[in-house]
Amino acid sequence: MPILKIKDLKKIYHTKKREILAVDNFSFDLNSGEFIAIVGPSGCGKSTILKMLCNLEDKSNGEINIEDNIHIGYMPQGDSLFEWRTVLKNCLLGLEINHNLNEESKKYVMHLLKTYGLDDFINAYPSNLSGGMRQRVSLIRTLATKPDILLLDEPFSALDYQTRLAVSDDVYKIIKKEKKSAIMVTHDISDPMFRISMTVLKYK
Ligand SMILES: Nc1ncnc2c1ncn2[C@@H]1O[C@H](COP(=O)(O)OP(=O)(O)OP(=O)(O)O)[C@@H](O)[C@H]1O
Ligand SMILES: [Mg+2]
Repeated sequence: MPILKIKDLKKIYHTKKREILAVDNFSFDLNSGEFIAIVGPSGCGKSTILKMLCNLEDKSNGEINIEDNIHIGYMPQGDSLFEWRTVLKNCLLGLEINHNLNEESKKYVMHLLKTYGLDDFINAYPSNLSGGMRQRVSLIRTLATKPDILLLDEPFSALDYQTRLAVSDDVYKIIKKEKKSAIMVTHDISDPMFRISMTVLKYK
């Protein structure tokens, strides 16, 4: 039974000069516990698909049906960390916004920071981190609110291959252990994250 159903999704961006058909005729179902990787070349509309799934962009046409009580967590392309907030405060942001920040949720974030080797950096600012560390902070921020579905946009592009292997194993374990589902997009067909995806959708 799918927890997310997408049918004939379409997105046209309207700029002053022209219309851009970013996504057309895209359909798929996501089942509970499933990990889907969407792969396609740069500019084919992958990020736009994820933005429509988390309501950051309106769709132009098609259907998105999400099962009741399913909570979506989005890790944007690039890391979009807030430079004026410390690592810990960046990770707690979603919990603050959802009014879910308490001792238990903070403990969970501290546990994730430790697991990802960032516990010595909780009071550092993003500008003092490497690209890979920033991506891990961004992942923790996404996981902090315990979403049922993770939307990961080129999540580990700044990590070296070895680290990506390790992180993809971690993400796989988290998804399995916490019974999460995930949709990852990437343009890189050699992305080690493919090892953990059950379904690979080629888009364009
Ligand atoms: N806010 C926007 N306004 C106008 N056009 C946009 C906007 N965002 C994206 N586009 C256009 O829509 C198309 C798809 O963009 P999108 O960012 O979804 O591609 P992508 O597959 O994620 O690319 P990449 O692999 O480089 O991240 C591109 O032609 C892009 O120029
Ligand atoms: Mg993109």
